Amino acid sequence: MPKLIFIEPDGNEIIVDAENGFSVMEVARDSDIDIEGTCGGSISCCTCHVIIDPNWFNVVGEPNPDEEDMLDLAHGLQPTSRLSCQIEITNELDGLRMIVPED
Ligand code: FES
Repeated sequence: MPKLIFIEPDGNEIIVDAENGFSVMEVARDSDIDIEGTCGGSISCCTCHVIIDPNWFNVVGEPNPDEEDMLDLAHGLQPTSRLSCQIEITNELDGLRMIVPED
């Protein structure tokens, strides 16, 4: 079972077990991480925004054009920003580190 590491704005790290096939947003929401996922994963909000650790960005990959358009509206956008509802959990992501931006 892959583990995901969420880094909260205060630097606190939360490690959660994730199940393959779910999205990072779903796992975060179910683990009481401060990620809302208001639109349920349909790329029409930015409440699932995360900043991927640069060492992991190649593994996670670039956002698709629709996701990129929505990310332009995200607060605190960074070069490694992604919408976590668009990242599907696989074994490859075991140990993935990402920052949960401040609201
Ligand atoms: S949950 Fe709305 S874009 Fe990810």
